[in-house]
Amino acid sequence: MTSGLWMKWAPLVAIWFFVTSVAALGGVGDARAQDEEEPKRIKVESSNPLSGDEASISSGARLYFKWCVQCHGPKADGVSRFGAYAKDLRKFWRGYEEFLVISLNGRPKKMMPPWGHVLDTDELSAIGAYLETLAIEGAYWK
Ligand code: HEC
Repeated sequence: MTSGLWMKWAPLVAIWFFVTSVAALGGVGDARAQDEEEPKRIKVESSNPLSGDEASISSGARLYFKWCVQCHGPKADGVSRFGAYAKDLRKFWRGYEEFLVISLNGRPKKMMPPWGHVLDTDELSAIGAYLETLAIEGAYWK
């Protein structure tokens, strides 16, 4: 085999290495994404009148990301950008009525603010309807 022939293949070999290493990096990325995979969602029964209502769920999501996300985090798992902080609302387990009571009155001694002066019951129910869609094992909304 002459060096001339090798020179002809060198660029192809280089491209091959490039493509396979990019694919390998992609594989690493996938593995990492799997490590962070969310816990399995469950479908909850609920006594929230807005439960399952698409319009309420999307307005609830907007309200959540306006008023609750700072402490309960973008995934509602209680992890804010400052780390684990507030409760994980994906597994809120005290039922819909209690959700309203806690949200309206807060738990001022435990740094959960009262929302009664900002949000009305319908808005909180919409947030509840959104949170139900994130429910994982342990959640109870009845
Ligand atoms: C300033 C931070 C902060 C904000 C903003 C906030 N929360 Fe909380 N919330 C907390 C903390 C801290 C707790 C945990 C209190 C405790 O330990 O009992 C909590 C607890 C709760 C609980 C009780 C959970 C349980 O399992 O007992 C509910 C329900 C709740 N929050 C709803 C909301 C909703 C709805 C919003 C938005 C309208 C909101 N929170 C916004 C800090 C916050």
